[in-house]
Amino acid sequence: MLEPLLFELSDPGQYNDYLPALDVPEAKLDMPARAALPLPEVDEHTLVRHYTRLSHKNFSIDTEFYPLGSCTMKYNPKINEVVASMPGFALAHPLQDESTVQGWLEVLYEAQRILAEVAGLDAATVQPLAGAQGEFCGLLMIRAYHESRGEGKARTRIVVPDSAHGTNPASAARCGFTVTQVASDEHGCVDMAHMREAMGPDVAAVMITNPNTLGVFEKDIEKLTALAHEHGALVYMDGANMNAILGQVKPGDTGVDVMHFNVHKTFSTPHGGGGPGAGPVAVRKILEPFLPTPYVVKQGDRFTFDYDRPQSVGALHGYWGNSGIVLRALTYILRHGSSGLQEISENAVLAANYILARLRGVYATANENICKHECVLSASELRAKYGVSAWDIAKRLPDYGFHAPTVYFPTIVKESLMIEPTETETKVTLDAFCDAMLKIAEEAASDPDLLHHAPHTMPVGRLDEANAARCLNLCWAAPENDSSCQNGTPHDAHREVPQASTY
Ligand SMILES: Cc1ncc(COP(=O)(O)O)c(C=O)c1O
Repeated sequence: MLEPLLFELSDPGQYNDYLPALDVPEAKLDMPARAALPLPEVDEHTLVRHYTRLSHKNFSIDTEFYPLGSCTMKYNPKINEVVASMPGFALAHPLQDESTVQGWLEVLYEAQRILAEVAGLDAATVQPLAGAQGEFCGLLMIRAYHESRGEGKARTRIVVPDSAHGTNPASAARCGFTVTQVASDEHGCVDMAHMREAMGPDVAAVMITNPNTLGVFEKDIEKLTALAHEHGALVYMDGANMNAILGQVKPGDTGVDVMHFNVHKTFSTPHGGGGPGAGPVAVRKILEPFLPTPYVVKQGDRFTFDYDRPQSVGALHGYWGNSGIVLRALTYILRHGSSGLQEISENAVLAANYILARLRGVYATANENICKHECVLSASELRAKYGVSAWDIAKRLPDYGFHAPTVYFPTIVKESLMIEPTETETKVTLDAFCDAMLKIAEEAASDPDLLHHAPHTMPVGRLDEANAARCLNLCWAAPENDSSCQNGTPHDAHREVPQASTY
C-alpha cells in the first residue's frame, strides 16, 4: 500500500507546539511567519507513526543482508552506540575548555596513534569527514609538500588506474591537478607497462585504490611505489577497502606515503543515507608538517589541540570533525584488538570467495582470480542470451529479501554486480543469498519478463530514479502547491502505483 505523504495527513491546527513560554524578550525574525509556510500540521503521535511505518519499509543492515559492494555494509555492534551515548562524550560541547574534555581529546589522540600504526605510517589526522574528504586532504598535503620543495608548479598531474574508486580522479581534479588514467591488465591489476609510460617529472602522485574496485590486491604495489618514488612522486592509497587487508598488510610497508581509511566502512560505524562518516588520513613523516588543524598532541600527561602548525593545509571544517564516528571506530578497534582485526579481514575475504565459488559459472566473473573482500560478477551473458540485465537482477533480489549489490560499478566490467558480504554474515545467510542468485539465473532463462518487471513484493515497483534525483523538492510542497518540480510534472505523477502481481 502506498504510504500517504505527511502533507496528506496534515490536519490544520493539529501540530504540537512544545516550545516553553518565553523567558527572554521577544525578538522579531525577518522571515515569513510559520503559519504562512506550506508545512504539514500533524500531532506527535501521527508523526511518529508516519516515520516508523516508513522505516519498516526500508531495507537496512539490521534487518536484511546488504551486500552493497564497495560500501562494506557490515553490522554495527551496539556497544559502539553504548559508548558514544555516554554523557561525557555525547553532551560535550566543542567550545568547552580543553581541561574539561581531556577524555575526548585522549580518544582523538588514541585514534590518531592507532590508525597510524594500522597503516604502518608515522602520524594520522582524524579530521576528514568522509573518505572523499580524506582524499582531498591527502592531495592538499601532497601539493603542499611539493610546494615546500619548490616543485609545486612543476608537479601538476596525478596518475590514477582505471580500477580506482571514482572519487579518486574527482578529488584530484578538485585539488587542481590533471588526471592521467592507467589501464588494468587481464588479472585486474595495474598494467605496469602503461604505468611506466604515464610517469614523468610533472607527476605529483600516483593514487591507487588497494585492494582495487575489482576486489583485487595490487600484487605489484611495491614495484609501483618504487617507480613513483624514482620520479619524485608520492603515492596516495585509497584505503577504503582496508576490510580486506586489516592486520595482514601495513600499506606504509609497501611504500605508500599517505592513505585514508573509511571508518564508516572498515570499523563498523553507521553510514546509511550518506553519512556522517569519517575519513582519517595517515601519513609518512615527510607529510606530518602539513596535517590539517586541529591536531591532537600530548604534552606531559595532558592532551591539547595544536593549531599552531605553520605548514598545515588548514582546517577542513569547523570544530573537531565527526568525533562521535571516530569514537565508535576506536571502540570497535579496541574491542577486537590486533588479532581480532586480522580475523576480520580473513573472514571478509573468505565470505566473498565463498560467494564467488558458488556463483562462478552461472554468472560470468571479472577475471579468474580469487578475490579479496568483494567479488565482481557480470550479467553480460544473461543479457546476451535472455535480455536480462544487472539492473533486472538487482530489482529481483528484494523479492527474495535481500538488498541489491552494487550494479554497473566498477564500470570497466560490463553489466557488473559487485557483491561485498563482509565478515559479519553467517554461512546460512551467504547460502540463502547464493540460492536466490542461482534461482534468479534460472528465472532469467525460463521467464525473463518476471525479472524485467521486478520487484513484485515491494511497496513500490521501479521508480523513476533519474527524475527523483533531479527533482529534489519533489515531496517538499503540499501536492496542490507543488509548482516547484523543474519539469512541471504534477506531484502525483511521480508516485508509481505498483502493478498487481501474481508472483
Ligand atoms: C574505495 C572507496 N574510496 C572512496 C570512497 C569514498 O568515501 P566516502 O563515501 O566516505 O566519501 C568509497 C566509498 O564507499 C570507496 O568505496
